Amino acid sequence: MYKDYFPYFKNSNIVYLDNAATTQKPQVVIDEIVNYYSSYCSNTHRSNHGNANKATQNYEHTREVLKKFINAKEKHEIIFTKGVTESINFIVNSYAKNRFKKVIISSLEHHSNIVPWQIANIDFEVVKCNENLDFDYEDFENILKENPNALVSITHISNAFGKIHGIKRITNLAHKYGAKVLVDGAQSLTHKKTDVQDLDIDFLAISSHKTFGPTGVGAIYIKENLLNDILPYQTGGATINDVTYERSILLDSPFKFEAGTQNIAGVIGFGKAIEFIEELGYENIEKKEIEIYTYLYEELSKIDDIIFYSDIKNSIGSLSFNIKNIMAEDVGILVDKMSIALRCGHHCAQPIMKSLGIEGTIRVSIAFYNEKEDIDKLIIALKKAITMLKD
Ligand SMILES: Cc1ncc(COP(=O)(O)O)c(C=O)c1O
Repeated sequence: MYKDYFPYFKNSNIVYLDNAATTQKPQVVIDEIVNYYSSYCSNTHRSNHGNANKATQNYEHTREVLKKFINAKEKHEIIFTKGVTESINFIVNSYAKNRFKKVIISSLEHHSNIVPWQIANIDFEVVKCNENLDFDYEDFENILKENPNALVSITHISNAFGKIHGIKRITNLAHKYGAKVLVDGAQSLTHKKTDVQDLDIDFLAISSHKTFGPTGVGAIYIKENLLNDILPYQTGGATINDVTYERSILLDSPFKFEAGTQNIAGVIGFGKAIEFIEELGYENIEKKEIEIYTYLYEELSKIDDIIFYSDIKNSIGSLSFNIKNIMAEDVGILVDKMSIALRCGHHCAQPIMKSLGIEGTIRVSIAFYNEKEDIDKLIIALKKAITMLKD
């Protein structure tokens, strides 16, 4: 059982089906963080004593691990951030502002890929999706034609519906019209091997906590030829080569982008989480997830009056649905009392919920450690909740 790697499941009887919000952390990741704080806690890239060097080495080890994980060409293409939200804000403020007339997003974006553009006053166009919530490539190409040299900012997998966007097709089309592509990888790295060179991604926003690592850490991958176009929106200690009162000379990437003391324990723990995934093997993770996701879909299909917003053809991870004439939030409150953890609501994707004419959905989001027995418990709880709400 994969659950044996995760102490959460020893300490809690909750059926955890809220993995799109955050994933559980394996013992090896927790140990790595505790070890940093309890045996060699020091700052990185500053002092020269033994423990400081160890901290720097382990912090940089994560960069190497992440580089291999996403198949980046160079280590300095990876910059640590607080997570996907900060990575997108970084691109908005250090690169996109004053450079792009138009940003192109999909209809399924998380608020983290809508609000930062609005606040920065950068115009954006939204690509349509069809009635199955699948991306409309024709509409995309038309928008690209009308807005050459734009920035496309798009999620790989939708957190609200688990819908998968064809990133390779998107980068091919975008590059044909001179656009750059920023991919929100918050939900994809948990489920899918992402090869930035093969997919020809210009920027990839990465989150540790969605990928079995600690919260408050993530990264932004930046294709090497774009690094010189980026002027860090925040600077300070650890970013400079030389400072006088007249001028400051910044270091090269990644250091010029990592101002101040970083989340050292978080970065080191994130590295361990990636190594953990690599050891398990993506093929095993994907196989297990598809099995559980399919089982979940089939079992839910037996419930009367269910309305699906996800499908097994082009979705993974998150499965969203509603029950006719029942408020999603009411279901969430009742199943919580039966020890089922899932999320009901707009899932930080209010615009698409509004277009669908709904307040939100019931979202079950799985990880590879979920078992069929979790789904069986969910179905029992759901049926009870529906009976109570219909009475
Ligand atoms: C698709 C998507 N984008 C962005 C985010 C924000 O990620 P983070 O928590 O790493 O800032 C999330 C988190 O829910 C998400 O699911």
